[in-house]
Amino acid sequence: MRGVTTYTLRKGSPDRTGSDLVVIGVAQQGEGSSRKLVPCPGGEPVAEAWGRKFDPLLTAMGFKGGAGEVLKVPTGGTIRAGQLLVVGLGPVDGLAPDHVRRAAGVAARNVGNAASVALALPAHDAEHVRAVVEGFRSGSYAYAAYKKPGDRPGDVAILSDIARRKDATDALARAEVVGALVDQVRDWVNTPANELTPASFAEAVTALAKKHGKGAAKSGLTVEVVDTDALGELGCGGILGVGMSSANLPCLVKVTWEPQDAPDAPQVALVGKGITYDSGGLTIKPGSSMVTMKCDMSGAAAVVAAVHAAADLALPVRVTAWAPMAENMISGQAMRPGDVLTMYGGKTVEVRNTDAEGRLVLADALAMAVETGPEAIVEVSTLTGACVVALGDRIAGLFGDDDVVADVQAAAEVSGEKFWRLPIPEHTSEQVRNESEIADLLQHNWVRWGGALWAAAFVKEFAGGLPFAHLDIAGPAFNTGSPWGHQPSGGTGFAVATLVDFLERRANR
Ligand code: BES
Ligand code: MN
Ligand code: ZN
Repeated sequence: MRGVTTYTLRKGSPDRTGSDLVVIGVAQQGEGSSRKLVPCPGGEPVAEAWGRKFDPLLTAMGFKGGAGEVLKVPTGGTIRAGQLLVVGLGPVDGLAPDHVRRAAGVAARNVGNAASVALALPAHDAEHVRAVVEGFRSGSYAYAAYKKPGDRPGDVAILSDIARRKDATDALARAEVVGALVDQVRDWVNTPANELTPASFAEAVTALAKKHGKGAAKSGLTVEVVDTDALGELGCGGILGVGMSSANLPCLVKVTWEPQDAPDAPQVALVGKGITYDSGGLTIKPGSSMVTMKCDMSGAAAVVAAVHAAADLALPVRVTAWAPMAENMISGQAMRPGDVLTMYGGKTVEVRNTDAEGRLVLADALAMAVETGPEAIVEVSTLTGACVVALGDRIAGLFGDDDVVADVQAAAEVSGEKFWRLPIPEHTSEQVRNESEIADLLQHNWVRWGGALWAAAFVKEFAGGLPFAHLDIAGPAFNTGSPWGHQPSGGTGFAVATLVDFLERRANR
């Protein structure tokens, strides 16, 4: 198998490249019977090589230029490469980097056995270079632990007029750094829960930091694992309440990046839900809902990866990822509906549903993060099925304070990930605070409506009034369907790209 793929930026014309296969984008221009297929920027010389026969050739093969469409054409010498892969980009009006990212991902899954590939997709500025690399890299992902994946190209050249400009080479380097971490998150999420336990997840995070820590610039990256006993001494009732039901004991992982040359840089805390498996506990899930619950540590994986990216990119921001890790299982020691837990910092919580476990482990982690005095807290979790009901499986819920939410939204504009803001209503926060007769807060009220909002209101109680955002990624973190665009089936690595852009914004503000 060809293992590693090398990405290079190159100036050059796609009709003359010596690669085995050339990829171009084709878009739709006009409406109805006057609709034409037009090559996207970068692909024109290829279309010109076929001349007036280009559009009829594609049309005869049933290619309509829609997003997600592909067509492989033997070139028969019309251009130097032996194979041409045409990818649809949809309507030419409103073409955005994100369409290019998705098309590049589709291309990656359709290059077949070509050993070398030239991408002649729109790459006229740094933003598009980034989208092409991110999309192709992301679309090439395969989870290879248990099943041999197909061949991948050894060489991928991104053809670009600005190939030698620094902003372009920076964009390539950045896309490779973030892409590798997105792939790491996908591997972690896809690892079955019998292998990825709280302890082995913590070890994997530690091992990754050691690997990354070799570079001098990364000496500011540290990992600390708080074990079960230490969590007990600290009074982390939420993590223990959930985690003691499993033979795989819980822990909390902290990953910190401190730029050595910028000790006064802005400080941010990221908190991620790390449930390595969610059976529901005594409030057990129906069998079919349990199947994908190895994905319930996606938030923890995303925040850990984002801090690694900050270190790799040497971002001038001080950031800690707080990742409470636990397995939600059933045993004689399992938490019961009706139990009261005392969280880190002393707030008491009445548990009504052991399947609403995410908010319990997050409570401790948030309360600990608050004590370090960050300027903003972003918490990421596969928190509620209700959020998936509301927004589907490609859009995450975004909750919280205007300022932090606005920065996440601006970051998401660049990353291409989709978020939709939902409210934390004051009356819901009041219910969380008032509806338990015996504890400070009520975890769950068995009312079906607005379940994502209740969960958001609950976690916000532990943010200590600091500027806060909550990202409910229960839908987009795990793709239970077929691959689409640059997204594979299974773990998607959702939120990593947005978090990195968010940290960059915070660093520069
Ligand atoms: N991990 C689940 C949420 C989830 C659902 C993630 C679907 C990914 C896909 C979470 O712990 C959970 O079970 N939430 C409950 C909350 C309820 C008991 C208030 C849910 O959504 O049903
Ligand atoms: Mn649950
Ligand atoms: Zn869960």
